[in-house]
Amino acid sequence: MRQQIVAGNWKMSKNLEEGLELTKSILEKIDKPKGLVILAPPFLHLREVGKIIRVRKHFHLAAQNCHHEEKGAFTGEVSAPMLASGGVEFVILGHSERREYFKEKNALLAQKVNMVLANGMRPIFCCGEPLHIRDVNTHIGYVAKQLKGGLFHLNEEDFRKVVIAYEPIWAIGTGRTASAQQAQEMHAAIRVLIAKRYGKPLADETTILYGGSVNAANAAEIFGMPDVDGGLVGGASLKADDFAAIVAGLK
Ligand code: 13P
Repeated sequence: MRQQIVAGNWKMSKNLEEGLELTKSILEKIDKPKGLVILAPPFLHLREVGKIIRVRKHFHLAAQNCHHEEKGAFTGEVSAPMLASGGVEFVILGHSERREYFKEKNALLAQKVNMVLANGMRPIFCCGEPLHIRDVNTHIGYVAKQLKGGLFHLNEEDFRKVVIAYEPIWAIGTGRTASAQQAQEMHAAIRVLIAKRYGKPLADETTILYGGSVNAANAAEIFGMPDVDGGLVGGASLKADDFAAIVAGLK
């Protein structure tokens, strides 16, 4: 089902106490959201943040990553079954920071996607091009490759559970947002790709979020685009007022 979503990706920010404070102020400031609000705090915070948001409808918990194997000798890693057992419902996968700094490739991401789904959670699958690709106008082909390599192996039933997040790398943490038209162009193109693989009805049902310097001032315009179903927010999700204003921008 196509859903309106704002997800806050805290990345590696906030200690536990600060994270719980932030969660409480977010809950205070968001009353009746027009869609789902997802919080993706660091691993350590998940349980406690989950306990706070559990009492509220519309609020959901996401992890920022997970390992591709179910269990084993992988010191320092966190598995999908662990996350599921801790009440996590969504897992962000393929964020450009994971792709760039941790060298995560599409084939590995496909395994992670499978692992998340096998454990009853939903992937938030990130895609998006670097600036040099945008500059030579091959961004749609670039994103198509990411989707084909990481997601399109799924059967229809599993694909239905996936949320896609388009995050152009040049817009992440730079203050340089894609224009609403640039976001719309890519989201529409992603829907065409999905339609080719899974058919138009499923493409129309897929939730596609935009990420990259979303803030209180630009959220409503970007979310107002016909193929944009909300956002994946980094920096601005760390301030309750800004995050609440972004959530208020959902259509
Ligand atoms: P910013 O909102 O800080 O640009 O980060 C976007 C992002 O990477 C969300 O996953």
